[in-house]
Amino acid sequence: MEKKFKRTLVTSALPYANGPVHIGHLAGVYVPADIYTRYLRLKGEDVLFIGGSDEHGVPVTIRAKKEGCTPQDVVDRYHNIIKQSFEDFGISFDVYSRTTSATHHQVASDFFRKLYDEGKFVEIESEQYYDEEARQFLTDRNIRGECPRCHHANAYGDQCEACGSTLSPDELINPVNALTGNPLVKRKTTHWYLPLDQYQQWLEQWILEEHKEWRPNVYGQCKSWLDTGLKPRAVTRDLDWGIPVPVEGADGKVLYVWFDAPIGYISNTKELCDQHPELGSWETWWKDPESRLIHFIGKDNIVFHCIVFPTMLKAHGEYNLPDNVPANEFLNLENDKISTSRNWAVWLNEYLVDMPGKQDVLRYVLTANAPETKDNDFTWKDYQARNNNELVAVYGNFVNRALQLTQKYYNGIVPQCGELTDTDKATLAEFKDVKDRLESLLDNFKFREALKEAMNLARIGNKYIADEEPWKVIKTDPERVKTVIYISLQITANLAIAFEPFLPFSSKRLREMICMDEFAWNELGNTELLPTGKQLAKPSLLFEKIEDDVIQAQIDKLNATKKANEEAQYIAEPVKDCIEYDDFSKLDIRVGTVLECERVPKMKKLLKFRIDDGLQKRTIVSGIAQFYEPEQLVGKQVLFIANLAPRQFKNGLVSEGMILSAEDWDGNISVTTVDRKVKPGSCIS
Ligand code: 2FM
Ligand code: ZN
Repeated sequence: MEKKFKRTLVTSALPYANGPVHIGHLAGVYVPADIYTRYLRLKGEDVLFIGGSDEHGVPVTIRAKKEGCTPQDVVDRYHNIIKQSFEDFGISFDVYSRTTSATHHQVASDFFRKLYDEGKFVEIESEQYYDEEARQFLTDRNIRGECPRCHHANAYGDQCEACGSTLSPDELINPVNALTGNPLVKRKTTHWYLPLDQYQQWLEQWILEEHKEWRPNVYGQCKSWLDTGLKPRAVTRDLDWGIPVPVEGADGKVLYVWFDAPIGYISNTKELCDQHPELGSWETWWKDPESRLIHFIGKDNIVFHCIVFPTMLKAHGEYNLPDNVPANEFLNLENDKISTSRNWAVWLNEYLVDMPGKQDVLRYVLTANAPETKDNDFTWKDYQARNNNELVAVYGNFVNRALQLTQKYYNGIVPQCGELTDTDKATLAEFKDVKDRLESLLDNFKFREALKEAMNLARIGNKYIADEEPWKVIKTDPERVKTVIYISLQITANLAIAFEPFLPFSSKRLREMICMDEFAWNELGNTELLPTGKQLAKPSLLFEKIEDDVIQAQIDKLNATKKANEEAQYIAEPVKDCIEYDDFSKLDIRVGTVLECERVPKMKKLLKFRIDDGLQKRTIVSGIAQFYEPEQLVGKQVLFIANLAPRQFKNGLVSEGMILSAEDWDGNISVTTVDRKVKPGSCIS
């Protein structure tokens, strides 16, 4: 931290209240934010931790439609479930509110209105897709159609998941209502836009020059947005769920959810400070230059927190900008992307039913394996191994030995420390600098390494007590054992502090066992934390071994989900409108032999083919790299459209045709081939 700040405002992404939260949310955002906040609090710093539910937006309306209830019913239900899960996992928010609150509606409306009155928006009339049957304009996510780049059949109006291109609905071929398949027409509508382009230079200076210390994934994503060039972004939508646009004549329009949600951080701070005047005014937390703002988010939120929201704050003019945005990558589950729709997740509310009292085990595993620099995988086997080999065998084992021996030999009273041996001195010296190491890692948001450092302190203790073997020495040199136990107890007390930000539940239990009422971060490294003569309480096990059958039950549960997904009835796409034979015959579909196939640098989804089409060789690019290794396709005879106009990709690559593939309902792609070998160039009819 170069600048000296007086206080820190920590925010964590407001989860959509359209479903419960899962381990991916916890690992990506809430556990790291909680570790950081607990650490600052323990250091005695002034900090507030802001959370809340994001209750507007299209996903809520989609869920309500599917369930036949109102959007308010949906958010009421999930807000409570999510809030409870966070409490259960010790996510220590100072406030957890919601964007449907009256305070938020007021704060967000005022924010919009100030920018509007000061002419900070541009008003643009455009033609947008309208569903005449549903009588509504559709948001980008609610529109599907064929991708203009890779011709994937089901691209969204904002992105093609097959080739990764960012799209606008206008680019889609044959766009339809994603929910109903209804055809769409264009209608005129007016919206307010945040002219990000006008802030491009300022953003380049602020991020690329002044925030080079941001995580490489965050900095890199910002750079790529800025390099592409920013465009104005609409901050209003034609929708009936959200905060009404506070401007006359804007009936039927609401603030775009990504405009109102980040303002939720401000509203929730206001709600908290208004109720607790001792915390100071909310404005001090947001506007005083000595207040620091940190956003914890997942990687899919980077553009909104690093580019859009800062631009809103800058345009407003009174607010601080984020000092850092430590975004995480994604967590996968058993080698597969976590997916709400496929129920491929470990839901927090269900976890606690199956694993009661094991909040810290999950917090530990998710931090030890945190997706800080790349996507990571959660597996139940790894969960078991980390619990049994690290929490139980190292941390728990050491603490249990130290406390049980204190009970056995000294009735639970801290013994006198005698003269120190060289091993004692070396051990004490080793754990004295743990504080500095932990601080430098935590200050830089390196939670995974910081946890390793805390565990290392337990390893030091474990090795010490195992080497000294007090249970043997007691028979020959009882005086010496007093010193060994004294030192072991000091390490134990240090562990309670070091682990507090990471594993608050077990730290609390440990503190109760050693009767440590007062504790502070600055005591870390103190080798006289528990004075001689102090009576300790009766110990119990800090962690318990998890048996194979418990883990197998979790794996079975996931396998059942997988099976159910595979067996779920495939609902085929409705058949398209009838065409005449003449229309069909315009398509020149042929067989080509794949001569070469390779990945395209920097375009993860694409494969580049060289095809023998019977007349010549041609290049075809296809968005199927996720599904094949290039060498699997060399030599195959594939069906392709030979007379499709050539298309150019962003990087200049030109595709001369299109390889035909089948896509199942799960998005898996399989290229089409012929049943028997035929001559390249053979026509399909
Ligand atoms: O991606 C999400 O889940 C969003 N609901 C995050 C919003 S963060 C903030 F802006 F409120
Ligand atoms: Zn595509």
